[in-house]
Amino acid sequence: MNVLAIIRSRFRSALESLIDDPADVLDMIRTSQDSKFGDYQANCAMPLGKRLDKPPREIAQQIVDSLEIDDLCDVVEIAGPGFINLRLRDDFLIDQLTAAVHDDRLGVDAATIQRKYVIDYSSPNVAKPMHVGHIRSTVIGDALCKILRFLGHEVISDNHLGDWGTQFGMILYGYKNFRDEQSYDTSPVVELSRLYRLVVGLIDYHSGKQKLPQLEADVIARRAAVEDQRSLAPSGDKQADKKVVKALRRLESQADAARQTLEDSQRKIAEFEADADAMALAAAHPDIPRAVLRETAALHAGDAENLSLWNEFLPQCRADIQRVYDRLDIKFDVEHGESFYHDRLSAVVQSMEQAELARESEGATCVFLDGFDTPMIIRKQDGAYLYATTDLATIDYRMQEWSPDAMLYVVDHRQGEHFDKLFAAARLWRYGDVEFQHVSFGTVLGEDGRPYKTRTGDTVGLEGLLDEAEQKAYEVVCENDVAGMPDEQRRKVASVVGMGALKYADLSHNRTSDYVFSYDKMLNLKGNTATYMQYAYARVRSIFARGQLDADELRRSSTRIVLGHPAERELGKELLRFSEALEQSSADYRPNHLTNYLFDLAKRYSTFFEECHVLKAGSDELRDSRLILCDLTARTIRCGLALLGVDVVEKM
Ligand code: ARG
Repeated sequence: MNVLAIIRSRFRSALESLIDDPADVLDMIRTSQDSKFGDYQANCAMPLGKRLDKPPREIAQQIVDSLEIDDLCDVVEIAGPGFINLRLRDDFLIDQLTAAVHDDRLGVDAATIQRKYVIDYSSPNVAKPMHVGHIRSTVIGDALCKILRFLGHEVISDNHLGDWGTQFGMILYGYKNFRDEQSYDTSPVVELSRLYRLVVGLIDYHSGKQKLPQLEADVIARRAAVEDQRSLAPSGDKQADKKVVKALRRLESQADAARQTLEDSQRKIAEFEADADAMALAAAHPDIPRAVLRETAALHAGDAENLSLWNEFLPQCRADIQRVYDRLDIKFDVEHGESFYHDRLSAVVQSMEQAELARESEGATCVFLDGFDTPMIIRKQDGAYLYATTDLATIDYRMQEWSPDAMLYVVDHRQGEHFDKLFAAARLWRYGDVEFQHVSFGTVLGEDGRPYKTRTGDTVGLEGLLDEAEQKAYEVVCENDVAGMPDEQRRKVASVVGMGALKYADLSHNRTSDYVFSYDKMLNLKGNTATYMQYAYARVRSIFARGQLDADELRRSSTRIVLGHPAERELGKELLRFSEALEQSSADYRPNHLTNYLFDLAKRYSTFFEECHVLKAGSDELRDSRLILCDLTARTIRCGLALLGVDVVEKM
C-alpha cells in the first residue's frame, strides 16, 4: 500500500470543497523530514490562502475539518502559519507491516491502471566499439523494465541494434582494403574494431582538411564582428550601453569557441600528419569519405559481396556484445536491429508523402515540423534513408505488433533533438495518443571532468571495465572477509559486488546529470552504494544464521509486531515507503528514487540495530517482533536491489 498516495487521496476529497482542481497542491503533501512534525506533512494551506485570499490557518482548519483520515492517523494538528502535521496510528502501521510480512510483494500493490510499454534501450551500434555510455542505457533501461513489470505493467524490451548504418560501410571498406588476414582469423572482432578506427581516422583527416578553410574563415568573420561591436561609441543611454556590452561578450565567446574549434582541428591534423604510415594511407585513399558511403549504399542495395560480408561480420559482433550482456545479466524480449526495418522504409516515406507531412526540398524528402529550425530528412538526395526513417518504421512496426500505450527510448541526451522531431512527426502521422518519452541521460565523466574513456579504448574496453570492477571488488571483499571464505567463494562474491557496484553507481545518480566514474566511490562501504546495501543485507541475514533461526517459520508464526521504541517505529514507517519509491521511479522514469529509498532504509535499519537489541531483546515476543522487522528489511533490500538488476549474497 502506498501510504502517501492514500493520504493524498483523502486530502483530494477534503480539498474539493475549496478548489476545483486540487492536483497541484496535493504535491505539497510529503513525508516529514523530522518526526517532530509528524510522519507526513501537508503544506498546501499557505498557497491556498494566497489564492483564496484568506488566512492560511483558517484554510488549514477548514481542510482538517473535512478530512476523513481517522483510520490512518491519530494526530492531525495545525502548526505555525498553517502546516498540517499528520501522525500515523501505530495500529495502522502494525497492520500494514503485518500484511507486508505475509506478502511476496512486500505490500506493494500493482498499479490500478496497467499499461503496456515498449522500452528501447542499450541499442549499441555493432561494429563500433561499445563504450561506457552503453552501460548507462543498458542498466537504466533494464531497471525500468523490472520496476514497471513489478508494478504490474506489461513491458516489451527491445534492443534496437545499430546493425545497418554507415559504420558497416566503414568496416566493409576497411576489410576490403586494409585487413590483416592473420589477426582477422585469430580475433575477428578485434581486427574489425581496428579497421573501424583506422577508417574513422582517415575520414576525419580528409574531412578535417577539407573543412579547415571554412573554420579559418569563420574565425576571421567572428573576430571582425567583435571588432565592429567594440568600435561602437557609447551612446550615453545606460540601458542601451549595457546591451551593447552584453552583445560584445556574446560575440567574444562565439569568437573564442570558433578559435577553439579551429585549433582542435589543426592539432588533430598535425598529430595525424606526424604519422608517416597514416599519411601514406591517407594519400592512397583520398576519396575515402565517399567510398565508405558507397559501400553502405551497396550493402543497402543488396550487393552480394557486401551482404555476404555483413552476414559474416554481424554474428561475430553480436557475440562480442552478448558477452557483456551475459556478465551484466541483461536479457531482451526482442532485438530488432535497424536492418530488420530495411524493407519497410520506402513505404514509410510514401505514407508520409501521402499524408502530406513530407515533401521534396532540394532533392531530399523532408518533414517540416512546427517549432524546429530544420526539417527532419527522411530520404536523402541520393535516395538513401536515414536514422529517422528507420525510427519511424520502428514505431509503426511496434504499434502494429504490440499496440503499446507508451514507448520509452533510453538514449544519451545528445540525441534530444532527433527524438523531439521523431515524436512530433509520429504524432502527426498516426500515433497522437501514444506516450513517447526520450528517457535521456548525461555523460559518464572521468576524474578529469572529461568524458570517461576506457583505458584500452577498443572493443575489449568495456569488458576491461567489467574486469576491473570485479578485481577491485575482490580486493574489497578480501579486506572485509571476517568469515574467512575460500577463494572460490570470494571470487563469486566479488563478481556480484563488482557488477552491482557498477550498475548501482549509474542508477543512483539522477540520470539527467553527468557523473564521475570512480571505482573507489562505487565500492565505498559507507556511501550510497550497492556494496553498502549488499553488506547491510548480508549483516541482517547473518543474525538469522548466528541464531540458527528460520525466517520462513518466523513469518508464518503469529508474532505480533511491536513498535514501542522510536527506532522501531521509524524503521517500520520506512519499510512501508517501498511502494512510494517504486511509484515515484515509474512516474518519471528515474531509478534513483529507488536507490535513495534503499539508502534511507539501510540507515534507519542501522539506527534501529544500534539502539535496539534483537537476539537479546528481553522477551521472546519482542525478540521475534524485532527479528521480523530485520527480515522484512532484508527482503525489501533484496527485492529493491533485484529491481535494479543488482544481486545480493548471503555472506560477505
Ligand atoms: N544505435 C544508436 C546509438 O548508438 C542508439 C539507438 C537508440 N534507439 C533508437 N530507436 N533510435 O547512438
